[in-house]
Amino acid sequence: MSKVTVVGAGNVGATAANVIALREVADEVVMIDIKEGVSEGKAMDMMQTANLLDVNTRIKGVTNDYEATAGSDVVVITSGIPRKPGMTREELIGVNAGIVKQVTESVLKHSPDAIIVCVSNPMDTMTYLIHKISGLPKNRIIGMGGALDSSRFKYYLSQALGANPNEVEGFVIGGHGDTTMIPMKRFASYRGIPASDLLDAATLDKVVADTMVGGATLTKLLGTSAWYAPGASASEVVEAIIHDQKAVIPCSALLEGEYGEKDLCIGVPCVLGKNGIERIIELDLNEEEKALFAKSAAAVHKTNEALPC
Ligand code: LAC
Repeated sequence: MSKVTVVGAGNVGATAANVIALREVADEVVMIDIKEGVSEGKAMDMMQTANLLDVNTRIKGVTNDYEATAGSDVVVITSGIPRKPGMTREELIGVNAGIVKQVTESVLKHSPDAIIVCVSNPMDTMTYLIHKISGLPKNRIIGMGGALDSSRFKYYLSQALGANPNEVEGFVIGGHGDTTMIPMKRFASYRGIPASDLLDAATLDKVVADTMVGGATLTKLLGTSAWYAPGASASEVVEAIIHDQKAVIPCSALLEGEYGEKDLCIGVPCVLGKNGIERIIELDLNEEEKALFAKSAAAVHKTNEALPC
C-alpha cells in the first residue's frame, strides 16, 4: 500500500492530488485543508470521476485531521497563500513561513518516515525552513520548483522549435524566482540535437527570458498563481519517489558544498528514487553559468535571512 498526503486543497494541491490519482501513482491520496468541507468536496468530486476514467487510486479529503494522514510515504506541502499579479514569490515569506512550520510539525507527528515535497512559496526558502525545523536527513526534503521551471522551459523551447514538447529536453537550475532561475540553454536539445544548432542566439535568449517569468506571466493572466503545471510537477516528483524511478529531476536540495555552496536549498539536478534525493548531480558549469549560480545562491541566502528561525 502506498499513501500520499497533499496538504492544502487549493488549486495546486487539488491538481497535484488529481494527477497523482489519474496516473495511479499511489494507492491512496489524502487531501487535508484548514477550510471546512473543501478537501471533502474536492475528493468526492474526484472520486466521482474514478468510474469514468477507470482510476483505482482512492482519494480522501479531511479538514485539519492529521490522524487521517498517518503512515504516508510522501507528503506534499502546498499550504500558504499564492501570489497575486505584481507580487514576487519572496513577498509571501512572512505569512507562509508560519503556516509551513506548523504543517511540517503536524505531518511528521503522524508520518515520521515520510519524504516531504515542498511546493509552498518562496519555495527554496520554505524547503530550507523545513530542514531547519525538522532536522530530517537531506534526502527526505525536496523542493519542487525545478521540475516546474524545467517544464516551462521545455514548453517555450517547443514553441520556438515548432516541436512536440515531448521531443524537447531542457532543465532549469538555481532558485525558483523570476530573477534567480537559470534555464540551462547549453544543454537544451531537440532529441539530442543542440537547440543552439536550430535556434539563433536571440531566439534562445527569449526562450530563457520567457521561462524565467513563466509563473508571473500566468499570474497576470489568471489573477492568481498557476496550478496545472505546478500540480503536475508535484505529481512528477512524487511518482519518481513512489515508483523508485531514479529519475533525474531538478529539485531544490540542501547543498553541503556541492556547487561551492552550503547552508541553503536551491535547484540542482537530482536523482529521485524511493529514498528521495538519492544523488545530486554536479554539473561542470562554465564561467558564465558559475557566475549565474553564485548570484542566484546569494539571492536565495538573502531571502532565507528573513526567516523567523
Ligand atoms: C509558479 C508558482 C507556483 O511558478 O511558483 O507558478
